[in-house]
Amino acid sequence: MCKSNFFKNRKINYKHYPSIKNLGIGDQKLITTAFQYTQMAYAPYSSFHVGAVLRLKNGQLIKGVNQENASYPAGLCAERVALFSSGAQYPDSPIEVLAVCANNPNKKLIQPVFPCGFCIQVMLEFEHRQKSPIRLLIGNPDTSIFEFESASLLMPFSFDPEQL
Ligand code: THU
Repeated sequence: MCKSNFFKNRKINYKHYPSIKNLGIGDQKLITTAFQYTQMAYAPYSSFHVGAVLRLKNGQLIKGVNQENASYPAGLCAERVALFSSGAQYPDSPIEVLAVCANNPNKKLIQPVFPCGFCIQVMLEFEHRQKSPIRLLIGNPDTSIFEFESASLLMPFSFDPEQL
């Protein structure tokens, strides 16, 4: 079926929690861990510090922080650092959940920071590869938190590798 028909009038399901306290203990821990990781970001050019943590089915936690470069496009987002690290170290253990936090020491962030389109595209490749969704938790310990049951909800009209 053509994707435009499939997605006609489609609504995107997500949960938006007012506070981290509305999450279960395990998810709260993931958010606080991702927020701690923002301190390890290498972001001297933007001062925008992003921390990502993946939990795999085998229980392993994988860290990612953004890695900037004087040649700006050579840098990489926190989410992809974590995703590619997991692909390299644990290619056979599916990713269950990804939590993302951000911090800018020069500007208080008052709302969650969503992953960029490249990172979502990479998440979709992992979902396709592992044949199961990656749940997303997006927000800081002191902002509201968004939860998506699958990364694909963030990019409904995505490029489909089956078409290659
Ligand atoms: N960044 C991430 O790490 N993740 C995102 O989802 C958005 C942006 C990083 C890239 C760059 O180092 C800085 O934030 C400013 O764009």
